[in-house]
Amino acid sequence: MKKSPNARKSNSKPDVRIRPLTSLEDLEGCVFIQRRVWGHLDLDLIPVHFFRIAVHTGAIVLGAFVDGRLAGYVYSFPADFGKVRGHHSHHLAVLPEIQGLGLGKALKWAQRDEALKRGLELITWTYDPMQARNANLNLHVLGVVGRRYLRNFYGETPTLSLEERVPSDRLLVEWWIKSARVKARAKGSSPLADAGKIPKALERDSSGLEPAIGPGRPNLRLTTPRVLVEVPKKIKDLPMGTGLIASWQTAARRVFEAYFKRGYRLDDFISGDRCYYVLKCFKARRPPVTAARPGRSIHENRPH
Ligand SMILES: CC(C)(COP(=O)(O)OP(=O)(O)OC[C@H]1O[C@@H](n2cnc3c(N)ncnc32)[C@H](O)[C@@H]1OP(=O)(O)O)[C@@H](O)C(=O)NCCC(=O)NCCS
Repeated sequence: MKKSPNARKSNSKPDVRIRPLTSLEDLEGCVFIQRRVWGHLDLDLIPVHFFRIAVHTGAIVLGAFVDGRLAGYVYSFPADFGKVRGHHSHHLAVLPEIQGLGLGKALKWAQRDEALKRGLELITWTYDPMQARNANLNLHVLGVVGRRYLRNFYGETPTLSLEERVPSDRLLVEWWIKSARVKARAKGSSPLADAGKIPKALERDSSGLEPAIGPGRPNLRLTTPRVLVEVPKKIKDLPMGTGLIASWQTAARRVFEAYFKRGYRLDDFISGDRCYYVLKCFKARRPPVTAARPGRSIHENRPH
């Protein structure tokens, strides 16, 4: 883990430990972190008793302790993917003052270790496609894939939307934890694609002025093996109440939905001065993984 600013001052490395959270006292810490990280209303919090029964029935809840204090956690629960054994991961959170120091990554790799021990193959989760930092963590660092776009998935709740009256759109991603792709990422191997060489299905409006730059017109007709979809580097830096956030979301939604339908899937993320999703075309268009419903077979979407 990278050193925290305080640790740098004292020149000593923070003591970081990751372990399962099971006691009521430990789980109280998850509620505290939800309030700090997301600022959720009481009604939107997952309470202690829910974590408690979830752990009792197969959930994985791991906490990261920095110098003995709970600083982040990850939470997943068993999900029905038919023949594929897996979990859905619903929370990953690190206290704001120590974000960006490697704890989030460490929690996800620990979640994978625990899931492998339990014989699981797949962990899914949803995230807001406009959050470039999370996209980079998920796609570039962890090696997820995905091709399901969920419109307004959690409804227009103030704590889960980017701003008032903006739908809570999400991407559903799949972490095939035994795949060669994820094994390579676990070893830190993640070569960066060259944005200059790949055609762009969406990029910023070149006539815009920082920070109020909106999206240009989407190009839904590309047929190259890979296409890029630009998103703002920090969506929260766009001026609120101007419609810019909604216009980026609408443009990206059109592009993701159109390309997923044509057999492209999320493959990587490029994070630099400008940020891009990398979508890759797969000829075999098997349906994406989805939670199993009684009487419906599940198709597999494993990357190699
Ligand atoms: C998302 C979150 C859990 C990540 O934890 P973290 O400890 O801050 O992240 P890490 O330091 O482990 O960094 C993990 C990756 O995130 C990305 N990242 C972190 N800080 C970043 C920054 N300032 N800019 C761009 N990317 C960044 C990088 O890809 C980084 O990996 P790298 O260092 O190998 O490039 C944390 O930021 C958080 O709690 N955010 C709010 C809640 C949330 O969004 N949860 C996830 C929903 S899917």
